[in-house]
Amino acid sequence: MQKQDDKRPRILLGVSGGIAAYKSPDLVRRLVERGADVQVVMTRGACEFVSPLTFQAVSGRPVRDDIWDAEAEDAMGHIALARWADLLVVAPATAHAIGALANGLAGDLLGTVYLATAAPTWIAPAMNHAMWAHEAVQTNVRTLEQRGVRILGPAVGDQACGEHGPGRMLEPADIAAAVFEAPTTLVSQALKGVRVLVTAGPTREPIDPVRYVTNRSSGKMGYALAHAARQAGADVTLVSGPVALGVPPGVSHVSVETAEEMYSAVHERIDAADLFIGCAAVSDYRPASQSPQKIKRKAEEMSLALVRSKDTLASVAKLAGGPFTVGFAAETDNVVDHARQKLENKGVDMMAANRVGPDCGFDQETNALTVLWRGGEQTLEQAPKSVLARRLIALIAERFRHARDRNQSTNANAPA
Ligand code: PMT
Repeated sequence: MQKQDDKRPRILLGVSGGIAAYKSPDLVRRLVERGADVQVVMTRGACEFVSPLTFQAVSGRPVRDDIWDAEAEDAMGHIALARWADLLVVAPATAHAIGALANGLAGDLLGTVYLATAAPTWIAPAMNHAMWAHEAVQTNVRTLEQRGVRILGPAVGDQACGEHGPGRMLEPADIAAAVFEAPTTLVSQALKGVRVLVTAGPTREPIDPVRYVTNRSSGKMGYALAHAARQAGADVTLVSGPVALGVPPGVSHVSVETAEEMYSAVHERIDAADLFIGCAAVSDYRPASQSPQKIKRKAEEMSLALVRSKDTLASVAKLAGGPFTVGFAAETDNVVDHARQKLENKGVDMMAANRVGPDCGFDQETNALTVLWRGGEQTLEQAPKSVLARRLIALIAERFRHARDRNQSTNANAPA
């Protein structure tokens, strides 16, 4: 295992069984040259093309190619391997490997590691151009993309079969360059050891035993943030309203229903948080009273008295010595102006202005944000929520470190 103080980016390279596997040792060499610690995982098919010994020689690490290898599992189990990685790159990714990853098949070590890792995953497809064009492959690629997997290539050119078209694996130099160029790729240490509390989803405010007031939040943005924060090395707790989503791996989960429950769940845990991200769409109002029985249909008209619920985000931002706070402002009009007002009124450190509309905001797969703080702002272009979450976490990590460094230097200069 790597020493604690070794800060080299840790790249898990999955090699699947295509002719392009002969280029993968060169990719390992280039990653190692640029300072990465590379662990290779090979599929059975890959071993038919290149000897594991070749990869061992260039990576300096024994190759893992068998989930049933008791000795290798003993040294570092497949789950430890998945946790070790800052980034999982599969190059080449054959049509079969892409299908297995898209469908969550854990029949070999690569499939298992993909399911268990919290690290970002990139794949470099390589196959015959007709296979690449096939609807089955394209559907699998789209599934992975929607899940936040980055697809590198493929390149267009002459193929091993003698034909020409899209399907060549990107050159190792281009893959290595992409790994080190993307600022958010190797951010896994950016929040290492930071304790992050995230809220997500809607709240439900009961009217009677069968009816409630709620909103259209699906929880997707908040869950993607919790996942990205975990990928960035944070200890993450997710306080969530009712949603139909799986909890991201490695994230602690607290389930709540109402705004009051969310307030309490957050305040019970806030002393143990360095960073608070309020992404939940908390009901601003709740019914003034809850009928113990189902309300009967009698009157032609009825009105519902509502009272304001406690503001979790504003109350966290007010805590003396409290965490760095990030809020969201979902708006339909004058989005950035309203969000800047909320930044000031709630006294938070950062506010993500979230336009609500087609392909943005509540219950959509994609989103776009303008992130505001005192003295600055940054636009994060429209992208799948998983991708946007990684970009936002990278930006939050930067501002969080900036604030922490400033506090430390202020404290150091304060009179004893
Ligand atoms: O869940 P998805 O379908 O993926 O959609 C994501 C989202 C659009 C819900 C999310 O990105 C978002 O914008 N969340 C904030 C929703 C909102 O309308 O917030 P607000 O403007 O009402 O509140 C501003 C901030 O105060 C938010 O951080 C909110 O969590 C917080 N708040 C509000 C009221 C309250 N009683 N307590 C709070 O903590």
